[in-house]
Amino acid sequence: LAGTAAPGPLAGRHALVTAGPTHEPIDPVRYLANRSSGRQGYDIATALATLGARVTLVSGPVDLPAPAGVTLHRVETARQMLAACRDALPCDIAVCAAAVADWHVASEATGKIKKTTGAPPPVLTLVPNPDILAELSTPGASRPALVIGFAAETDTVEQHATAKRQRKGCDWIVANDVRPETGIMGGTENEITLITGDGAEHWPRMTKQAVATHLADRIAAFFPPVSA
Ligand code: CTP
Ligand code: CA
Repeated sequence: LAGTAAPGPLAGRHALVTAGPTHEPIDPVRYLANRSSGRQGYDIATALATLGARVTLVSGPVDLPAPAGVTLHRVETARQMLAACRDALPCDIAVCAAAVADWHVASEATGKIKKTTGAPPPVLTLVPNPDILAELSTPGASRPALVIGFAAETDTVEQHATAKRQRKGCDWIVANDVRPETGIMGGTENEITLITGDGAEHWPRMTKQAVATHLADRIAAFFPPVSA
């Protein structure tokens, strides 16, 4: 039936997924960004929909087609991403795969910033962005039953990710090593360590699609089936 979620172990569940980078404007033509491709988040959204979940994907600017069977909200900044996530609540599952910029520029210039001969270069003052994962993880009536964060690290991955899980208050962390030589950031493969309340589990290197499928299966196993 049109509008009816596909049958599957996550039928009747609503999943919110964030993906991609955010762009934080400096002036009308320039922004701060990062190297996230959005692939892992898009693949997770697809895998959750395949298992029957209703999926809301909140995405920063990426060069990827909208996944089939998923409601896509495109945003630019971290503040817009947070607003779109709040609008998507309530949900049962939140997967924060976005590489949210940690800061935005304190005051976006309304016109293009010009070079002035002899003048010192402009100084950007940065202020912290809201932490979407930490907000979604905060205990309360609207907290999703399962909140999953990502931890992209370049050293002592497991220690950093375990500390991050505590700090954010999320249930699971998908940790990975994003040193440039791994080729993971922006690439098609991923090698993750899943950190849950039971400890750390290292997964072999596989495609981001395979990581998404395995993660969606783990998520499905966390939930008892919704009875009709
Ligand atoms: N995250 C978020 N909102 C932010 C920053 C991060 O939702 N403003 C989420 C990311 O989507 C990811 C997790 O938090 O799931 C960890 O992001 P990460 O950048 O690794 O953590 P930070 O707390 O920002 O720490 P740092 O960048 O200093 O390592
Ligand atoms: Ca960060």
